[in-house]
Amino acid sequence: MPTHDDVDAFLTDTLVGRDPSLDAALAAQQEAGLPAIEVSPVSAKLLHLLVRISGARRVLEIGTLGGYSTIWLARALPEGGRVVTIEAEERNARLAHDNLSRAGVADRVEIRVGRGLDVLPTLVGEEPFDLVFIDADKESNPGYLDWAARLGRPGTVVVLDNVVRAGAVADPPPGDTKVAGARAGVVMLGEDPRFDATALQTLDRKGWDGLALALLTDAVASGPD
Ligand code: DHB
Ligand code: MG
Repeated sequence: MPTHDDVDAFLTDTLVGRDPSLDAALAAQQEAGLPAIEVSPVSAKLLHLLVRISGARRVLEIGTLGGYSTIWLARALPEGGRVVTIEAEERNARLAHDNLSRAGVADRVEIRVGRGLDVLPTLVGEEPFDLVFIDADKESNPGYLDWAARLGRPGTVVVLDNVVRAGAVADPPPGDTKVAGARAGVVMLGEDPRFDATALQTLDRKGWDGLALALLTDAVASGPD
């Protein structure tokens, strides 16, 4: 009986393939002792395709880690496009920069170092982002969604990682702040008129989790209410 890992391996081998600079990025991340919590290859390819499908030129990523997803996002950009990625840990940001350079996309990516909720206000006044990928501390998901709406425009695509957390989102264990943040993010996507959203459960090499996908509506022009 095939397992979901067998299916993930088949889908990854068949649809995503391998790339020496992505393998090197993951090896460097592991060598540095970072947790292996980057998006799975099939999800990374989904992000890449969403950038291309939406024609996004300006992409915002919250949570760089070692830059694995950043490389996939940057490779999807049209000529002149840009990824701004926010990373709380200086050491991760340096590692990500090396990985982006090795992958040949460092010139298209700006890494801003600092906690997401501190860095995001500094992006006010820049051109709106066309796609926002949120994959940082789960406790801040509602705050990150609010900033995605402020820094986007009607039609901006928002992707939120880790919204299922092995099913816990449906019955949050008391005291689990990550699950509480994941759930609060999903509730906000359902209630806040600035978003039109759905979510899909995922079952891949990282286990059982999920991704929410939202479109910013015309209500972004008038704020959260
Ligand atoms: C965690 C964070 C992630 O972004 C992820 O994809 C999986 C797990 C975590 O902090 O537990
Ligand atoms: Mg994640």
